Amino acid sequence: MNPLVGSQIINNRYNYLFTQNTCLIIRDKIPAYILNIKWCKLLRQHPYLCKMTVKNDVSLKPYNTFGIDVKARYLIEINTVDELNEAVDFKNRNNLPFLILGGGSNVLFTKTFEGVVFLNRIEGLRVVEEDDEQVLLKVAGGMAWPRFVDYCVEKNLGGIENLSLIPGTVGAAPIQNIGAYGTEVKETVVEVEAVDLATGKIKTFSNEACRFGYRSSVFKTRSNRNYFITAVTFELKKNPVVNLSYAPLKHIFQNRDINTVSIAEVGNAVKQIRRSKLPDPDQIGNSGSFFKNPVVGINELEPLKKRYPEIPYFQVDRNSYKLAAGWMIEQCGRKGKRLGDAGVHDKQALVLVNHGNATGSDILDLAMMIKKSVNEKFGIELEFEVNIY
Ligand code: EPU
Repeated sequence: MNPLVGSQIINNRYNYLFTQNTCLIIRDKIPAYILNIKWCKLLRQHPYLCKMTVKNDVSLKPYNTFGIDVKARYLIEINTVDELNEAVDFKNRNNLPFLILGGGSNVLFTKTFEGVVFLNRIEGLRVVEEDDEQVLLKVAGGMAWPRFVDYCVEKNLGGIENLSLIPGTVGAAPIQNIGAYGTEVKETVVEVEAVDLATGKIKTFSNEACRFGYRSSVFKTRSNRNYFITAVTFELKKNPVVNLSYAPLKHIFQNRDINTVSIAEVGNAVKQIRRSKLPDPDQIGNSGSFFKNPVVGINELEPLKKRYPEIPYFQVDRNSYKLAAGWMIEQCGRKGKRLGDAGVHDKQALVLVNHGNATGSDILDLAMMIKKSVNEKFGIELEFEVNIY
């Protein structure tokens, strides 16, 4: 039960009115007599009076692709930068920890979140600059990533078609530098606009300032977790050259002249490969790759190659090699196996799935068992790609 139910807090800018499951934040000071529960519904529909709603004790199940049923103490859907400012004001006044969620496709919840969840739902897209070669698009952080990719493919704007169908939002894409099928988002990001939730100030990060790496960026460091990404600017090509460097894509187009392959064809091929290997979160709960592929030096690779001549690896730079964690997990006999309702996907062992009623702890227990087996067999310490709360 929310202890604030029935209470009303008025500060210089807003009224907060707490009801059983929601808190209305109202832009102007309004005479107290109209702020009773009877009026809440009406107020919520009034654009000038009511800015946004804070939900209390809300299940996060619809907001994470693993489909884990845990609660958040408060949840606020942010549709505009103004609303973000109000939400920050609410968080500060109540001295709450916070968590920013986009599509919820890279998180595993293991317990109630005793703070406020900010859902990034800021939408919008505009052309910032354009010439014969390329276009700069500024895209709001809350837009669904797959919808943005489809938009670009439809307009024949190249650069992100290999990232088709990746769940999540535009704002989340730079945080872990999403990547698939030979492309990473860092290749097209020009700048990232974010609000520092500690100070409320807007900051723009150039591509360089984002310090992109394999599934990482400046936004993943502890001191930068305060940033709420409001928009990302992308540079897309008007006369795109497709990227078929990833072997399965190369294979699909092996009999074609690369210059005749359109980005729409590549986008469709990527969708086809993803659908054949990766589970659809709408059908079965999952967060894509649960683990990162480990990157090792030649000194670690050589003994592994001797023991396992068939081990897949890819050279990243002069002295680093990426190993395939999915392959190692499969070699440990874990592919397709279950621990209650927590499971390892049967077509891609890097992906853990929720077969129905798994809790976050069930999935985490399975992940820890996998980590232990891989370490025992290969001497490699796997790292989680998914963020655990
Ligand atoms: N493999 C196995 N068994 C498995 C899975 C993979 O033997 O169960 C082998 C494959 O045969 C291949 C190698 O491992 O030789 C690599 O597999 P795959 O091409 O499927 O890619 P991945 O390295 O396992 C990465 C990304 C995926 C991305 C694919 C395609 C990471 C952590 N994962 O997976 O990203 O879609 O490449 O580019 O880098 C995600 O991040 O959520 C994600 C799905």
